Formats: sequence, structure tokens, C-alpha cells
Amino acid sequence: MRVRRIAVLTSGGDAPGMNAAVRAIIRAGLKNGFEMFVVYEGYKGLIEGRIEKVDRNFVSDIINRGGTILKSARSRDFKTKEARLIAIDQLKNFGIDTIIAIGGDGTYMGAKELTELGIKCVCIPGTIDNDIASSEYTIGFDTALNTICDVVDKLRDTTASHQRCTIIEVMGNTSGDLALFSGIAEGVEMILTPEHPFTEEEIINRIRLLGSGFKKHSLVIVSEKVFPNVISFAEKLSKETGIEARAEVLGRLQRGGSPSAFDRILATRLGVYAVDLLKDNIYNVVVGLKDNKLVYYTFEEAFSMPKKEYAQLYRLINIVNR
Ligand code: F6P
Repeated sequence: MRVRRIAVLTSGGDAPGMNAAVRAIIRAGLKNGFEMFVVYEGYKGLIEGRIEKVDRNFVSDIINRGGTILKSARSRDFKTKEARLIAIDQLKNFGIDTIIAIGGDGTYMGAKELTELGIKCVCIPGTIDNDIASSEYTIGFDTALNTICDVVDKLRDTTASHQRCTIIEVMGNTSGDLALFSGIAEGVEMILTPEHPFTEEEIINRIRLLGSGFKKHSLVIVSEKVFPNVISFAEKLSKETGIEARAEVLGRLQRGGSPSAFDRILATRLGVYAVDLLKDNIYNVVVGLKDNKLVYYTFEEAFSMPKKEYAQLYRLINIVNR
């Protein structure tokens, strides 16, 4: 049986560019003769049957909008088979057997579970964390990166004026990509990621050394979860070095805002590609970018890929940031 009715959902942490992906999917789907549906609030809404048939006007004027017009959620219930069976019934009520899910690793896991119950799925990487191994970039990463850079530019002014050390904690879940990329783009003095950790002692010694040089102030970018409490660490740093240190936790502002041109284009490419695959009767796959080309992988392939490595970027830190 070929796919005829497709439903789109966004799940997990929202990411700028998700709307652009939804738009591309709906428009490409309709152009190819599919009937297009949306599910509100991700897998939670799927269980609740919050499904609606849409036309091309539904996605007008959303390419530039942050967040997700479909809303998002992290559903604990969906982890149970009972809830997933209810979700399947909801889809059956609408005659839908195919889902395009936009989100991060939790979204991918949920989709994989659905495929095991007979639903055809294609997943699109949408998360600011960039922590999906099967795609060089995820939708939302570039925008979040630029947002971080805007904030760090501002923090630099006050950090330099007061000759302080400012530690900026960025998101990324367990991935250091946002910290690494923003740290290079901002030329900060230290970048602390889960992939390349430093001991507290090493950080303190480095900041002390910097404070004794010509340029007294310093910026440090750290991934969330590296420090149990970055504010306490800043206090400790102040005490140990005599240099005033402040911590700034950027938090969810990193997820907001209008998507960058890069994210809009990436989202549009991946959205249309997902529909192209379904048209060719290819499903139960995840899509991504490799060497700037669109690619797809089975869930098994995607889940077994190693974390992305950035040896060339880490090398830059040693050359230009120190
Ligand atoms: O996955 C995106 C993300 O923003 C992570 O960077 C962060 O760890 C998490 O979501 C926070 O999620 P929530 O807003 O649900 O607390």
C-alpha cells in the first residue's frame, strides 16, 4: 500500500526553523497529491487525537516564525505501549498511516516505536543541540548559535569594562556543539564541553594566568551539565583567583527567535526531501545532511552512528583563542 495520508508533528524542545520545515512538508505533500494532516503537541497530542487536516494556506507566513505553530511536548505517556496503541487508533480514525516527525533524539525514539506498530515514519532533525549524529546540522542550531553570539557580544562589553571573568552557560543537553561553535565565533578564552573537559583546577589556573596578563578580562563558554552549578563555580573562581567572576545561564532564550536564513533553507530542503522519499515509497528512515547533500538512514544506522567529532575546530582554539 502506498502512502496517501501524511501527518506532521513537532516534538521535544522547540527549535527555530521547525515552522519552515512544516511549511515545506505540507506544501510538498499537497503538490504530490497526498492528503496532509498536522498533529498538535507532538506525541502527547497524538495520543489525544489532536489531529487536523490542513491546506496550503495553513502554512502561510510561518517560514520566518520561531517556535512551532504545531506546539511541542515531551510525552512521558508515549513511552508506554498502551499509550502508543491509543495513538495508533487515533491515526486510524483519520486513515493516516504515515508520520513525518520533526525533533531530536527523543522524537526519533518515539517514531521508531511507531514503526514497530506498523506506522510509516520519516524523521527530520530539529533541535538547537545539533546532537543528531546522522546529520551534520540540525534545524535550529544555526539560529541558536547566532543568538548566543549576540548575547556574548553584549556580555563582552560589560566584562571588559569591569575586567571580570564571565562564564556563559549555553544549552546543548549532553552535546558541546553550541559551546564549541559559539566559543570559536566569539574567540573566547576558554571553551568547556563534555567532549573536552577541564578539571576545575585547570580552569582556575588558566583564568588566574589570564588575569595577570595585559588583557585582564576573560570570557568562558561552557556547555550545560558540565558544572552541576555554574553560579557556585563562578563564586569559587572569584575566591581562588581574586578576579571577579560572574556566571550567566542563557537558558531558553537560545531556543527563541526568527530562524536564520541557513535554518530556513535547511528546513525547506529536509522537508521536501522527506516527502520525496515517501513519494518513492521509502520510509522508516531519518533524513539529514552529509557533505551538504541530503541523505537518509535507517533508524538502526542512525542510532549506531558515533557522535560528531570536530578535531579541526578544537585545533583552532589552541591556535587563535589562547
Ligand atoms: O533539546 C533542546 C534543549 O533546549 C536542551 O538544550 C536542553 O537541555 C533541554 O532542551 C531543555 O528542555 P526543557 O525546556 O524541556 O527543560
